[in-house]
Amino acid sequence: MSQNLPQIWRSHLPSLEATETLGKKLGQALQPGAVILLSGDLGAGKTTLVKAIAQGLGIGDPVNSPTFVLVNEYFSGRSPLYHFDLYRLEPAGVAGVDPEMYWEGLEVEPGIVAIEWAERMPYLPGDRLEIRLNFSATSGTVIESPLSGRDICIQQFGTVPGWNIADLNGLF
Ligand SMILES: Nc1ncnc2c1ncn2[C@@H]1O[C@H](COP(=O)(O)OP(=O)(O)OP(=O)(O)O)[C@@H](O)[C@H]1O
Ligand SMILES: [Mg+2]
Repeated sequence: MSQNLPQIWRSHLPSLEATETLGKKLGQALQPGAVILLSGDLGAGKTTLVKAIAQGLGIGDPVNSPTFVLVNEYFSGRSPLYHFDLYRLEPAGVAGVDPEMYWEGLEVEPGIVAIEWAERMPYLPGDRLEIRLNFSATSGTVIESPLSGRDICIQQFGTVPGWNIADLNGLF
């Protein structure tokens, strides 16, 4: 397959638990150098997914969205996790953050980079997982809470260390 075409997996996550199961699976598989770009509306579940990734990595510290700093760094798992939230930033501001320093592992220990509001990035790494979450209820299903359903789309561009999107076949 051409390196330029993404591999795509789409599914419906009916509950918070489904999102957490998926995030843990990611966290158990991903290796340093993996870049995860998250997009979706406010409350769609980006931070929830990063928390589950952290759990899958074995990070014991509480994971919260970086509100007053641009990046939270966690070192207590089997790989460092660098968690960005670009919500408050214009693209020019993102350039100042130097996010590639993190995915290239320059001056920092190589780790897994998860970026919320990645649509605000002025440029993207060639190798990445793009994850989009949307509020959704599937017709004909009983919804536990009005906001529990999510549609998810994962696109893999290039190589993502530790990850093979085909591992998601049959999950949900
Ligand atoms: N299927 C689901 N997946 C993810 N979160 C869910 C799901 N169902 C319910 N929720 C709830 O939705 C909320 C998602 O909030 P979260 O902070 O993860 O969103 P976010 O996308 O990071 O928002 P923001 O853009 O404000 O950072 C949480 O309270 C979570 O418990
Ligand atoms: Mg968030």
